[in-house]
Amino acid sequence: MSAVFIQGNQVYLRALSQDDATPAYLSWINDPETTRGLVTGHFPSNLQSLKDYINSVTGNRDKVMLAICDLNTGQHIGNIKLDQFDWISGTCELGILIGSVEHRGKGIGAEVCSLVVSYAFERLNLRKILLAVYASNPGAIRAYEKAGFAEEARLREHVYSAGSYTDKIYMSVFRN
Ligand SMILES: CC(C)(COP(=O)(O)OP(=O)(O)OC[C@H]1O[C@@H](n2cnc3c(N)ncnc32)[C@H](O)[C@@H]1OP(=O)(O)O)[C@@H](O)C(=O)NCCC(=O)NCCS
Repeated sequence: MSAVFIQGNQVYLRALSQDDATPAYLSWINDPETTRGLVTGHFPSNLQSLKDYINSVTGNRDKVMLAICDLNTGQHIGNIKLDQFDWISGTCELGILIGSVEHRGKGIGAEVCSLVVSYAFERLNLRKILLAVYASNPGAIRAYEKAGFAEEARLREHVYSAGSYTDKIYMSVFRN
């Protein structure tokens, strides 16, 4: 039985599980360089808190949490999630983390976002996907643009990240 949920060219996506609570994953969320563009990472994590987090975000339908895995090796390299579902308005929010440094900047972020956007529109019948990104994270903004997202709103100097205040940008993509 295959664990693959969504197949891509460089990666595949599968359900995140307790077995993914590894020292590698722990190192991503404790690394300030990795988390400077995220809301997480300001407080320390250990393997137990990571397991508790995984437990809280899997197995419910308020959140779709997927492990991103290297297609060649099966290595777990990051996660992507959809949450804040509004089934009436047909909207949700997207978040992504590619923890493995050597897998960044190779088009994987854009590919995974495109895959999950298609999943949200075609399989979940959603209409619009929203995400938030910091202006100090131009690589992320570029990856989202490649996946079809465009800036929708900007909160000026709204977040403190890596020693300074930066704009919080909302980007969205519509089905049509
Ligand atoms: C943000 C993230 C998901 C992007 O994924 P990725 O696989 O590295 O991104 P991609 O390779 O698909 O695209 C990155 C693009 O940004 C460009 N880029 C990278 N750094 C850049 C910079 N400093 N300025 C401008 N563009 C930059 C790359 O050249 C590439 O564009 P191109 O394909 O046109 O050359 C990933 O780097 C990551 O998870 N980072 C850590 C956590 C994080 O910040 N998550 C996002 C929170 S909103």
